Amino acid sequence: MQKGYLIFAGLLVFAYVAQAIADDSDTSECQSEDELWGGEDIRKYYFCLNGEVISQTCQSGTYFVNNATVSGCIAAASITPSCVNLDVSEPDCTGSNAYYPQPCEDPTQYYLCTDNGPKLMTCLNDSAFVSREGYLGCATWSQWRELRNCTIDS
Ligand SMILES: *[C@@H]1O[C@H](CO)[C@@H](O)[C@H](O)[C@H]1NC(C)=O
Ligand SMILES: *[C@@H]1O[C@H](CO)[C@@H](O)[C@H](O)[C@H]1NC(C)=O
Ligand SMILES: *[C@@H]1O[C@H](CO)[C@@H](O)[C@H](O)[C@H]1NC(C)=O
Repeated sequence: MQKGYLIFAGLLVFAYVAQAIADDSDTSECQSEDELWGGEDIRKYYFCLNGEVISQTCQSGTYFVNNATVSGCIAAASITPSCVNLDVSEPDCTGSNAYYPQPCEDPTQYYLCTDNGPKLMTCLNDSAFVSREGYLGCATWSQWRELRNCTIDS
């Protein structure tokens, strides 16, 4: 148990360093006067009102897509699979599950196994959880997209 926590603490430090160089330029300027657009954070979309960018968050369980056929918040089941965690439930905390953080349906949260069973944790500073070969922990949204092959317009 102790060992799992130590590994994870190291990952959080890594995620923090990466976060410091994040860039949110796509959300600070109007990109369109009459259409919604998405950002790195898959839950959010933006629009322009009188020259100001207004940011909105999709309802829980829905995510923003803007491509040739869809523009809006749609249910996780209809999103490109690499962008969502479908049918993820609490880990059973046996075997290696006990030592490493586990994904959950909400991309900004993860489970950590404790002596009292799985505990739901939230990634700090608006980051998102990734469990992919070579990366385990909270990452910036842009890293999250890259590691998952989830492009903004997919
Ligand atoms: C989160 O952001 C705050 C303020 O920007 C900063 O002080 C803190 O160190 C950050 N924490 C992590 C874990 O990135
Ligand atoms: C648009 O996105 C939706 C949801 O991810 C997908 O089902 C659809 O095939 C996409 N359309 C195009 C043209 O990529
Ligand atoms: C992402 O795509 C690249 C090539 O397009 C592929 O090599 C890699 O395995 C993919 N990663 C995931 C997590 O699907």
